[in-house]
Amino acid sequence: MSKVSADEKKSSHQPLRFKTNFRNTIYEALKERGWKETEGEDWDLNWAERDIMYEVFDTGHFQSFQRINHFRNDRELCRKDLLAKNLKKRKRQLIKENDPEADNYDFWPTTYVLPGDYPLFVEEFKRSPEVWIMKPISKSQGKGIFMFTKLQQINKWKSDSRWKPEREDAEAYVVQKYIMNPFCVGGQKFDMRLYALCTSYTPLNVWFYRSGFCRFSSQRYDPSDLDNEAVHLTNVAIQKKLDTYDSVSGGKWEIRGLKMYLMSRYGIAAVDKLFHDIQMIIIRSLQSVQQVMISDKHCFELYGFDIMFDDNFKPWLIEVNASPSLTANTPEDRLLKIKLLTSVMDIVDLEGAMKGNEVRVGGFDLIVDAGQIRKVAGSSVYSCMLGAEIPRENVERKPRDEIAETADQTKLPTSKRTARGGGGEQESKESRDKRTNSRISQNRIQRANNAPSGATPITGSSLGAGGGSGASGGGRNKRIPATPQGRLKNFG
Ligand SMILES: Nc1ncnc2c1ncn2[C@@H]1O[C@H](COP(=O)(O)OP(=O)(O)O)[C@@H](O)[C@H]1O
Ligand SMILES: [Mg+2]
Repeated sequence: MSKVSADEKKSSHQPLRFKTNFRNTIYEALKERGWKETEGEDWDLNWAERDIMYEVFDTGHFQSFQRINHFRNDRELCRKDLLAKNLKKRKRQLIKENDPEADNYDFWPTTYVLPGDYPLFVEEFKRSPEVWIMKPISKSQGKGIFMFTKLQQINKWKSDSRWKPEREDAEAYVVQKYIMNPFCVGGQKFDMRLYALCTSYTPLNVWFYRSGFCRFSSQRYDPSDLDNEAVHLTNVAIQKKLDTYDSVSGGKWEIRGLKMYLMSRYGIAAVDKLFHDIQMIIIRSLQSVQQVMISDKHCFELYGFDIMFDDNFKPWLIEVNASPSLTANTPEDRLLKIKLLTSVMDIVDLEGAMKGNEVRVGGFDLIVDAGQIRKVAGSSVYSCMLGAEIPRENVERKPRDEIAETADQTKLPTSKRTARGGGGEQESKESRDKRTNSRISQNRIQRANNAPSGATPITGSSLGAGGGSGASGGGRNKRIPATPQGRLKNFG
């Protein structure tokens, strides 16, 4: 694989060219950007499906300006068994180094990989005969998942010869402790789909998206009804098959709606701590695979994190997706995703419009900058911007003193960001504003906000989602979010 040459050769294509098999919001977002689709090898951006990306990596020789939306071995983070292995390994390493950070590696439910870890699992099961969940490592959308409380219940799975470790086609599963006490809203379980963009592993650069959504079960949570997958699996693919599915909200609620709801009940401090803990889960997960990930300057990745939290406000990592669904199931969902992808493209910056000292672009905040975890600027009451309003101004840059500080950190590896002269370089406010308002996408965001009829634009004042402000008649400036089912209108 060739490295990007020092002179950062730019594509000469006008307009830029993209290649993708997807026909969902990614296609829309790229078209809207004015780029041209190509089926040949003359692409600037390849938004590839995971299944074909090995072919792209193996057969192609990347030009210096080309970008692709996966790291070659992203499965280290995104396959359920490898994720568990890497998290455990990182924890072990920290323990060995006597690093108190090891104590923070407690954010995933106890997990074993079967069939390999079967004896270990049985030992743990006997100690802790609770509810466990079985998940095939290479499936998604809730497929093949089941729960059990007795070892006999996995006999059927065990009797299938495919579980034999010596067989090449053995179907591996992870078995995981089931979180019995999920935090519920309106009596329903949900998990959160959050987005993080990694633009480099060496050094680690991570952007965290302020928005995202909760995916609700369409049925009341009942821990005793273990056979009913609809109660326990919050995947849209599972929920949409049911009569109880709400096609108006899509069973989704934007994170900002959840945040307002939680703050009105539990206060800012508790919610900020929860959201900050979630942000740290994302950072620690990425740090866990930093050593094994093949970093390549042509690659970036938009990860979809599945996170739950329980009724003690403890967040849990459920899984990480390298191909988070970019297919929308409601007009609001479509807007969220187009806006998300517009910000991704702004950061990946094939147009060369970034200066290099940006700390927020669209809805993304830079949370790890060349390996350093960034703190939210001093005046904010929040320590994490998840669920905060996405400002209209598209770009926010590092304050001057911070630029000077970064420039002093001589040991930081050179990244595109620093190499491009973000550090130390100062720009007048006028020219900064001019740049901000120029080609980076205020107008694109405006266009993305032109909702199709019936949809609510995703703006700071649009707090409700799902069956929220649009569907339940709440006005645009209403400060109280509605729940997906519109049931809890007067909480707090
Ligand atoms: N350990 C767990 N405790 C409680 N619920 C879980 C657990 N693991 C998964 N779930 C539920 O099952 C859903 C699917 O699990 P996930 O690991 O994301 O697999 P998939 O790849 O099929 O989406 C999650 O979105 C969540 O609702
Ligand atoms: Mg999932």
